[in-house]
Amino acid sequence: QQAVKVGLIGLGTVGQGVIRVLQKNAEEIARRVGRPVQVTHASARDLGRPRDTDLAGITLVADALSLAREADIDVLVEVVGGQTVAKDAILAALARGKPVVTANKALLAENGNGIFAAAAEAGVPVAFEASVAGGIPIIKAIREGLAGNRIDSLAGIINGTCNYILSQMTVKGQSFADALADAQKLGYAEADPTFDVEGVDAAHKLSILASIAFGMPLSFPAVACEGITKVTAQDIQIAQTLGYRIKLLGIAKRSAAGVELRVHPTLIPDDQLLAKVDGVLNSVLVQGNAVGQVGFYGRGAGGDATASAVVADLVDVARGLGAEAHRHVPALAFQPAAVQALNLLPIS
Ligand code: NDP
Ligand code: HSE
Repeated sequence: QQAVKVGLIGLGTVGQGVIRVLQKNAEEIARRVGRPVQVTHASARDLGRPRDTDLAGITLVADALSLAREADIDVLVEVVGGQTVAKDAILAALARGKPVVTANKALLAENGNGIFAAAAEAGVPVAFEASVAGGIPIIKAIREGLAGNRIDSLAGIINGTCNYILSQMTVKGQSFADALADAQKLGYAEADPTFDVEGVDAAHKLSILASIAFGMPLSFPAVACEGITKVTAQDIQIAQTLGYRIKLLGIAKRSAAGVELRVHPTLIPDDQLLAKVDGVLNSVLVQGNAVGQVGFYGRGAGGDATASAVVADLVDVARGLGAEAHRHVPALAFQPAAVQALNLLPIS
């Protein structure tokens, strides 16, 4: 049987994770899709750089955009990051009618309204499970699993780097700088780690979650955002003495007046669930008006954990290839005509 041909742009932490997971679980994935799923073409900035993964059988293409525009592929996976090459490649693939899988929350939060419109026009999906909370299937959980609810709020730890740093400072007494350097070595941090520590990455993710939870346009500029750079070892120690942990939370709440979206360090009583989520783990609590509170927990960053979500999207997309059905894979959770601009409440 002919394999589903995947074009992969980006061979860093996540890209190599995608290759590893597709290789490791090839048999399971083929049984799920009905045929094998293989990376046939790949691109990176420096193709001469040694990689930790087996690239045998993959055609290396010097230019990511050419891969998206010309390569004989069925689906494009974008794990380059940033706003320029990533966006141009995604739009080029969509223009050819190729479905896209991306982990790029920055791109979606800042340019997603246009990208989803292009996908709708092309009649192909843009899948983005890996863009929020790494390996936790939170997008599908909210979009599909909780689709019977009105979602009133969600709150959680959605940046693995910050949670790793705060945990290391709290549990091991490590310095902020050393913990950040370790998070970078472990492949958790963004290419520009100020996105992590200043709360911007969490704000990107929160705007995506709010959009699918509340049926509103992506509204990243409306997120009130403070990171963890001002949290000192002394703050952590005082919080501990008083029975609290400091965590960077993303919080989205809906009320009759509108929606509030915020990211900031938060004091959480020791005995609460989120206080116990340490290291690179993420956790999101969602409040639905039928189900009550539902919690999700798992690895929020790192190659294989994130690849788990990318490959899940690949399986979804691959199952629908060539069928009318895949045209209906929803991008955001609501029908485009039902997306409403909600009143964005100021945060003091
Ligand atoms: P890396 O920096 O590890 O990898 C980026 C890859 O993109 C590298 O292979 C790089 O090439 C390639 N690249 C960069 N610029 C270009 C370009 N102009 N043309 C072609 N290739 C290019 O990043 P990550 O793998 O960590 O992250 C990728 C994406 O996934 C980002 O959007 C990130 O936000 C997201 N993400 C990351 C997670 C993580 O845990 N790391 C978790 C969830 C999402 P080269 O190797 O030659 O430099
Ligand atoms: N830099 C991000 C984090 C990667 O630390 O959570 C996962 O999105």
